[in-house]
Amino acid sequence: MHYPWWYVPLLTSPMLIAIVSVIHVLVSHYAVGGGFFLALETSYAYRSNNRNYLDYLKSHAWFFILVTVVFGAITGVGIWWTIGLASPLATETLINIFVFGWAMEYVFFVIEIASAFIFYYYWGRLDSKTHTTIGWIYALSAWISLVLIGGITAFMLNSGNWLNNRNFWVAFFNPQFVPQVIVRTGGSFLLASLYVYLHATFTIKDKELQNLIMKRSARPSLLGAILVIVGGAGWFIFLPESAKAALLAASVINVLMIIITALAAMLLIMLYFGPYRNPGWLSSGFAIMLFLMGLAAIATGEYIREAVRKPYIIYNVVTSNQLLTDEIASTKQKGYLESGVWTKAYVKNYYPQLMDEDKIDESKLLILAESDRVKLGRVLFQYHCNDCHSDTDGYIAVGHLASGWTPEIVRLIVKHPEKAHFFMPPFMGTDEEAELLTDYILSIRREFPGGMYYGKH
Ligand code: HEC
Repeated sequence: MHYPWWYVPLLTSPMLIAIVSVIHVLVSHYAVGGGFFLALETSYAYRSNNRNYLDYLKSHAWFFILVTVVFGAITGVGIWWTIGLASPLATETLINIFVFGWAMEYVFFVIEIASAFIFYYYWGRLDSKTHTTIGWIYALSAWISLVLIGGITAFMLNSGNWLNNRNFWVAFFNPQFVPQVIVRTGGSFLLASLYVYLHATFTIKDKELQNLIMKRSARPSLLGAILVIVGGAGWFIFLPESAKAALLAASVINVLMIIITALAAMLLIMLYFGPYRNPGWLSSGFAIMLFLMGLAAIATGEYIREAVRKPYIIYNVVTSNQLLTDEIASTKQKGYLESGVWTKAYVKNYYPQLMDEDKIDESKLLILAESDRVKLGRVLFQYHCNDCHSDTDGYIAVGHLASGWTPEIVRLIVKHPEKAHFFMPPFMGTDEEAELLTDYILSIRREFPGGMYYGKH
């Protein structure tokens, strides 16, 4: 509405955010957990005077910097790029509400990068105490970054009391803040151990050193798994009502919940009997399997967290289809095409006959030729529905969902999407606009697929 549309065929543009952010999360959590691993373990290796282990830690630090600083930073910028294009209004809103938070995050990010480089490039040139202190500075500033970003993403899921009290701290310490920080902290410990296992089984030949690493990294991984479970319970308790309902109602999410529970249980059992009780068992193959299971569990968790936010991007503040909630009523009244900067420009440019002075005359919409009604209906669809549905084919494509529907059924859903499924935002246009959108959906709707009972309709 406020911004032009980004059409991504088949996938829908928000799915690009999901893809980029899941990749980023798998690296950014390692950036935190791996920091604690390096600080804690270098200090242990210095204390026990274990040269072999120190050498390994140095090689791990190199791998760590390569993965987190290079790949992590690229995917981090990738997130800003995709959210800016796919969800510009929500991005703008988050920037406005959290200016102070982003500023703090920037400071800690700079400290993080500087300390990571000092930690690695000054290896052997600093005394052990200074060296481990730098390691701890890195770990803590990375964790504070996690807390800051965690508060902002938690706000999207439950904005708490912010609408009544528009204050930075009310937004930041929202109901989801503590649970999400616990889950993310746990996830970062767990993930870091899995990266360590993967790296160590491939690079270390010395069995004794390998066993030491397996054993020492087992505790943080189990602690991490427990934190994820505890924080996950808090996440569920503090979900807003609509998100809880979505969790229980959507079949895809039901299946994902089963997958994530099964993955978490298997991971816990394997970590306990593998690295914790029998460190000698761990081979490269076992490490790859643990790593992939960890990635799958985290990716599934992030997907569920995103999916239950419907019908909002920012709970109660910005709807999934890019409108501020307090604009819904006036948009419906004025007309959807009229209210949008880009939709209005489109109508003005291609259908000047619909303009009455500088306003769209809604009553003229219905006298357009059929093909033009479908064209304008498509514009409405892209702005109003394409955030969640692709059109003819692809991600929950409406053309397929409406297979064989009669015009009455399509019209009913178009006028009251929220009554059919509470996770769809209400229709925000006039009755005339509902007719155009109905025409468009009828034009892309598939035939009734037929079947043994009904035959072909
Ligand atoms: C917040 C995301 C979201 C938005 C925006 C949205 N929908 Fe939906 N819609 C869904 C989901 C999720 C489903 C359920 C899909 C499923 O069952 O797999 C759905 C289902 C549907 C169905 C099938 C209904 C049924 O009972 O089977 C239709 C038709 C539909 N939407 C049309 C629309 C139209 C038209 C718009 C725009 C006016 C729209 N949707 C906007 C998320 C959304």
